[in-house]
Amino acid sequence: MKDIILTGDRPTGNLHLGHYVGSIKNRLKFQNQGDFDKFYIMIADTQALTDNADRVDKVKNNIIQVAIDYISAGIDPEKVTIFIQSLVPELFEMTSYFMNLVTVSRLQRNPTIKDEIKQRGFVKSMPVGFLTYPVSQAADILAFKSTIVPVGEDQLPMIEQTREIVNSFNYTYKPEKTVFAMPKAILPESAVCKRLPGLDGKVKMSKSAGNAIYLCDDKATIKQKIMSAYTDPNHIKVSDPGQIEGNIVFSYLDAFCEDQHFAKFLPDYKNLDELKAHYQRGGLGDVKVKLFLNNIIQELLAPVREKREYLIKHINDIYEMLFENSKKASLVANQTLTEMKDAMGLDYKKLLK
Ligand code: TRP
Repeated sequence: MKDIILTGDRPTGNLHLGHYVGSIKNRLKFQNQGDFDKFYIMIADTQALTDNADRVDKVKNNIIQVAIDYISAGIDPEKVTIFIQSLVPELFEMTSYFMNLVTVSRLQRNPTIKDEIKQRGFVKSMPVGFLTYPVSQAADILAFKSTIVPVGEDQLPMIEQTREIVNSFNYTYKPEKTVFAMPKAILPESAVCKRLPGLDGKVKMSKSAGNAIYLCDDKATIKQKIMSAYTDPNHIKVSDPGQIEGNIVFSYLDAFCEDQHFAKFLPDYKNLDELKAHYQRGGLGDVKVKLFLNNIIQELLAPVREKREYLIKHINDIYEMLFENSKKASLVANQTLTEMKDAMGLDYKKLLK
């Protein structure tokens, strides 16, 4: 049987380059290889509400933004079913049954949840829905019998939790026929793509840290952000030897630069190794490297921006597609839910004689 792919994002803001290298690139690879049975991308509005209960408008308005980001980045709605989490109510019924298979202490040990509790100021007082979102995420994955989940590194604990739930379900209910597939996370290959640093060089690229380049940024904004990116603070004169470790411009080149970019934009060098060696030796200025990076990012994002301009004029069509797809997703989830309840013995129709 071929793979069923499912992944998703919370609609809390526009997608940035961290999302692009962290998961969109892998999604495009799978989409273009075409070697799958089904491919779903879920806009996780309900999960977004677990730490945005009082910001419903923000979540609601970002659904279309994220959908436009996907499609403008190359996700093809003909090949991939993009849908909205809250429009698939079966997911939440499944979550209820899964919650009985997971302990509170197990959720509290989840490293991503631990980090997020600190970031969100939930140390003293945390919404129940927030603590339990990994269980709901397991339902997202299992409802579609997904085998492959292309995600960023921070999502690994969620996939691990999902796998534990499958084992616990099988152990507890001993289904005669397999209900759930065992999902596998697919991460980006290189370390820098797993965790793209922000422009400030301090933490990973994120909306909350204000250190991101967005897929929808305009040309001037992209250039301004790249020109102000953190480099090596001790590389003052062009002739000074420079450090590439922790130098954001080189991290981004590691993530985005290919040999062909040199022929196009910087023919004095053949590849990134040559450029790095020159920088380390001294004699290569930051501005030259930044302008090179700027060319690469502009080339990547110009068609994305152009597609976005077109899509913005067709917002209704996109909403209709999302609603239609959510109905289809709901039918699939309903089938799995029925199998799940049968396996659990929650099949009350059989009581009728
Ligand atoms: N937790 C993911 C994020 O923060 C979003 C998400 C929800 C997801 N359900 C999922 C990702 C299922 C992969 C599979 O972006």
